[in-house]
Amino acid sequence: MKRSKVKELLAAGKTGTDVLVKGWVRTKRGIKNVAFIALNDGSTVNNIQIVVDVANFDEELLKNITTGACIGATGKLVESQGQGQSVEIVASSIELYGACDPETYPLQKKGHSMEFLREHAHLRPRTNIFGAILRIRHAMAFAIHKYFNDHGFKYLHTPIITSSDAEGAGEMFHVTSFDLKNVPLDENGEVDFSKDFFGKATNLTVSGQLEGELGALALGEIYTFGPTFRAENSNTPRHLAEFWMIEPEMAFYDINDNMDLAEDFVKYLIRYALENCAEDLEFLNKMVDNSLLERLKFVINNSFIRMPYTEAIAILEKADKKWEYPVSWGCDLQVEHERYLVEQHFKCPVILTDYPKDIKAFYMKQNDDGKTVRAMDVLFPGIGEIIGGSQREDDPDKLGARIRELNLPKKDLWWYLETRKFGSAPHSGFGLGFERIMLFVTGMSNIRDVIPFPRTPKNAEF
Ligand code: 4AD
Ligand code: MG
Repeated sequence: MKRSKVKELLAAGKTGTDVLVKGWVRTKRGIKNVAFIALNDGSTVNNIQIVVDVANFDEELLKNITTGACIGATGKLVESQGQGQSVEIVASSIELYGACDPETYPLQKKGHSMEFLREHAHLRPRTNIFGAILRIRHAMAFAIHKYFNDHGFKYLHTPIITSSDAEGAGEMFHVTSFDLKNVPLDENGEVDFSKDFFGKATNLTVSGQLEGELGALALGEIYTFGPTFRAENSNTPRHLAEFWMIEPEMAFYDINDNMDLAEDFVKYLIRYALENCAEDLEFLNKMVDNSLLERLKFVINNSFIRMPYTEAIAILEKADKKWEYPVSWGCDLQVEHERYLVEQHFKCPVILTDYPKDIKAFYMKQNDDGKTVRAMDVLFPGIGEIIGGSQREDDPDKLGARIRELNLPKKDLWWYLETRKFGSAPHSGFGLGFERIMLFVTGMSNIRDVIPFPRTPKNAEF
């Protein structure tokens, strides 16, 4: 018999037919001669109830059906006699695939802390909460490709191993095939990367943007969606050493077109989740955060505030707040400042633009004031920055001057600079942190809990 998914049976199962389900036992309880098994197969947060007439089954088999065990059950789908489910299965046969020792199985019925579940990341997908999060994560990834495909963007695969530091922040993981006990040195005692695998120093990418620009300046609109790596030692609920980033890059877009796209795109993702992940979102709304659904609906129904950095600084300077990090023009905004603007001052997502050039990357288009660049950061409630982007500097002279000013290795960027020399075009793009939008959509508060296997300082288990 073909296996049915629990989701399909609960939604539209035809009662009176024989069905086969396979999954993991969430609970088993009994009254007199009947046992009730709640079975989950990961297709939905809801379990299907299997009713077992104890007299018809081997005692040893039933003893082994405990929380966490994996079974297949065949039986008739009938209207449920009990409350809480529409249909249930009256079992005619049960096969035990994998028993689960109740003494040592870490996921007991009682609720577990998020910390405990992180230490059991190999099993946590079997909890209701991580099942919900992982189904939403899948739906969001699908929606991202759908959005860009529907808008004529091409998916460009940018390299994972590169020799450039796109953000110029130096937070890179080295990639080498050297024997670390015997690293070749040159005559000055420096590591001789010419002898390494690629003949030069390489690292894991911090952003696909620079290569993304090469694609946009040929295909028009592209996007990348892949893992990015940052060796920044930030132990915060918003930082990962390995995170996924979505980076669209568009020829002929100025900063306003860029902001329009960013706003439309994140609203689309949130709407997609509301329409396609309703069950899981309702579960999270009930279990994690009672204002989640309300907050998601608020964001798609209201326009984001747009304002230059300079005006935001004036608001922050006037605020009746004791800052951990003092604010003044030129400072990089901290999460406390971003969240004040979004949560207390405007009570709405905010896009800040025209940041001081000294706190932003070399590639951003310089404004005529000589002090600011055409940057944009999208700030969200509960999180702070979820998107960073800009119009790009398309003038070869200004770009070259900025690279010299910042002492960046110009010879390594020769290919990037050639796009400005040969048929340069105004263009813009941004990067959305996938796990940051996942935090917002799920209402979770720690970024380690919206990615299956988080990578953070001192943690690469699993
Ligand atoms: O602001 P960032 O550093 O911008 C860039 O990398 C640009 N090259 C993007 C572009 O214009 N194409 O990073 C973009 C976003 C941030 O807004 C944040 O959401 C996320 O990536 N991000 C992180 N997410 C999790 N952990 C980290 N350590 C992150 N660093 C950045
Ligand atoms: Mg940023």
